[in-house]
Amino acid sequence: MIIKSLIVAGYESEAPGTILAYRAPPGGIAAFSAATVNLDAAWQVLYRTTDSFGNASATVTTILIPHNADYTKLLSYQVAEDAADPNCAPSYAFQKSAATDGALGLILPQAELLLIETALARGWVVTVPDHLGPKSTFLANNLSGHAVLDNVRAALASSKFTKISTDPTITLWGYSGGSLASGFAAELHASYAPELKIAGAALGGTVPLILPVINQTNKGAFTGLIPAGIMGLSNEYPSIAQLLQEYLLPAKKAEFNKAASKCLTGDIIEYLGQDVYSYVSDPGIFETPAALQVLNANNMGQHAPTIPLLVYKSINDEISNVTYTDDLVSYYCNAGTSVEYKKDYLSEHGTMAVLGAPDAIMWLEDRMRGVPVDSKCTTSSTFTSLLDPNTLVLLGEVLVNSLLDLLGAPVGPIMIG
Ligand SMILES: *[C@@H]1O[C@H](CO)[C@@H](O)[C@H](O)[C@H]1NC(C)=O
Ligand SMILES: *[C@@H]1O[C@H](CO)[C@@H](O)[C@H](O)[C@H]1NC(C)=O
Ligand SMILES: *[C@@H]1O[C@H](CO)[C@@H](O)[C@H](O)[C@H]1NC(C)=O
Ligand SMILES: *[C@@H]1O[C@H](CO)[C@@H](O)[C@H](O)[C@H]1NC(C)=O
Repeated sequence: MIIKSLIVAGYESEAPGTILAYRAPPGGIAAFSAATVNLDAAWQVLYRTTDSFGNASATVTTILIPHNADYTKLLSYQVAEDAADPNCAPSYAFQKSAATDGALGLILPQAELLLIETALARGWVVTVPDHLGPKSTFLANNLSGHAVLDNVRAALASSKFTKISTDPTITLWGYSGGSLASGFAAELHASYAPELKIAGAALGGTVPLILPVINQTNKGAFTGLIPAGIMGLSNEYPSIAQLLQEYLLPAKKAEFNKAASKCLTGDIIEYLGQDVYSYVSDPGIFETPAALQVLNANNMGQHAPTIPLLVYKSINDEISNVTYTDDLVSYYCNAGTSVEYKKDYLSEHGTMAVLGAPDAIMWLEDRMRGVPVDSKCTTSSTFTSLLDPNTLVLLGEVLVNSLLDLLGAPVGPIMIG
């Protein structure tokens, strides 16, 4: 946790996005906390943002600058941190020798460095906010949306030391938990940060509604998302902390509370196949007015973005049924948002993060190059697999980059034939 030591008194009165402090990451940036990512430069920037109640908060972003950077292209990449422990945040997880909750604890945010490297290989400057904020308020999506928009503001204000252009082409990208932060940023953009010119957002593995995820993941591989999400919300909302006080069975409290000090992989292992309702005195807990108020406030579909979107989603997604994303896309399209919606038959939630990445990169590249979007919405259903030439070319690049990492070779356009 780098926040507490750097925070300055009176920061609350600064404008959202104001840089409060910055430094080079003390540990250096590393893939899987071992293989150094050979960047031209990296920065950790502490900036002022806004929580779910409109109060001042502060969080950190990690700015990654490749060799031969194109300082006019800025991607804000939101990782799927999905945890209630602040030590799972990318500003920590991306550093060499980072370790939270054992050897596997940080694997998931770290694995996304491989996707981030495909963006760095294009010369884009990539900024990766700790979008769950200082208390790791997983599912407090209003706060996450603010944290993303303010991290872009902070990146624009960082030109003096990062050399990022003051008027770059800006895009957003995130999968699953990262799509919630990116999606809320897109939804809140017009009201919270209308001065930002954002060329588009790629949202994969979307999870528009929270409540249905609970029963869909209960007693399964992803049950750990439930305690992580409820604990994350209780870190932000006193009403949820109160609900847990009332409903958690005393004998099960300690085990449930373990989610406060685990990252996503640890949560998945800890709660694998468990019945989350065995922890509470009444299965109605998630449908009480107090719970519904908070869950609804953090569902997507509150505002239609005014920036173009790519939405990509597995038809077999086992965490959030594709029908909820169909509904979200319809709502956006009816309200005038330009959405390219890609549904895929040959994947599920986990594999789509990788299989969908090449399409996302190509779409983001078009936005970076200023290719106009279709003003109408389009939907396509595809069979994405490793045999798709685009997937092969672009995933090949991902793997090449991870190998280059292991060899410590420079990451930048010059290395990509
Ligand atoms: C945040 O804002 C709310 C409502 O505006 C206020 O009641 C509350 O005390 C604030 N919390 C903090 C920690 O400042
Ligand atoms: C989820 O499952 C619980 C326990 O079986 C049940 O009580 C509840 O009504 C279900 N909720 C929804 C939204 O389907
Ligand atoms: C989310 O944040 C916006 C400010 O960006 C605020 O106006 C709105 O009330 C918030 N919504 C909820 C449901 O908390
Ligand atoms: C999604 O919901 C539809 C309709 O309720 C159902 O037919 C389908 O099997 C569900 N998909 C998955 C992957 O659970």
